[in-house]
This record gives sequence, C-alpha cells and structure tokens, in this order.
Amino acid sequence: MKRLVIIIMTAAALANCGNKKKNEKKQPEKKQVEQKQVPKEISIVLESDDNMQYNKKELKVKEGQKVTLTLKHIGKMEKNVMGHNFVLLKLNVKLSAFAEKAVLAVETDYIPAGTSDIIVHTKLIGGGESDTITFDAPKKGTYDFLCTFPGHYAMMKGKFIVE
Ligand code: CO
Repeated sequence: MKRLVIIIMTAAALANCGNKKKNEKKQPEKKQVEQKQVPKEISIVLESDDNMQYNKKELKVKEGQKVTLTLKHIGKMEKNVMGHNFVLLKLNVKLSAFAEKAVLAVETDYIPAGTSDIIVHTKLIGGGESDTITFDAPKKGTYDFLCTFPGHYAMMKGKFIVE
C-alpha cells in the first residue's frame, strides 16, 4: 500500500514537471510572434523623374527599424540638369533655410560640407541611375526630406514619419 502511494505521488510530480516545461516553451513562441508584427527591417523605393517629382510624399517606418532606401531616377535627363537626391533632415531643421544653404554647396553635390542638419542622404543621381542607403530609423517623430538640387525642394519634399 505504501508503495502504491509513492508511485502515485511520483507520477503526479512527473506530470507537474511536464506541464511546467510546456509552459516554459510557450513563452518564447509568444515573443517571436510579437517580433513578427514589427519587422526589424524595412525596404523603401522612392522614385524621382524628369518632371521634378518624387512618387511619394510620405514615407512611414517604425522606430528602431533598419531602413533600406533606394532612390531611383526613372527619367532620362542628366544629373547636372535634373539631378535628384534624398536628404533626410534632423528634427527642428527648417527645410527652406537648409535648402537655401545647400544650393551653395555646388562642389559637394548640394550637401553642405560638415553640416550637422542631416541624418542621412543619398548621392545625387541622374536619369537611369539609383542609389541605396541603409540607416537606423531615428526616434519617433515627423521628419522632412527633400531634394537639394537647385530649385527642386519646392516640389521635391515630403514627410518621413517614424511611428
Ligand atoms: Co531633384
């Protein structure tokens, strides 16, 4: 009789142990699902053309995401006539004031040398070209982006929104 009790208790203990293990296993699975909801990386393709336009006025990413952004120039005009870039400004940098400074930076493709106003930028490209940059999304907020080629920012600008 004593032996039977011990066997039952042991069985109960084993069953408990098994349940615990199952519970432990479930937790990591949950975490993985949460991570899938916010992908670690995001790819964006932004087109520009011979009509001095981007094809998007708003780009959205999530805080902390690794962003791969490709700027394409789908036009035919050369970069000294219809050059385009993508320049992402830090928060609180005034777009028009920055653009006026950038126009003067002819020798550095309209990126002011040593500027601290920019988070990231592509190179200046002409028709048929593209440039890809990778960067970490900055903190939540709404940032301005623009093309700094002379006279373009009035048409070529938009919002880069980090959620
Ligand atoms: Co442009």
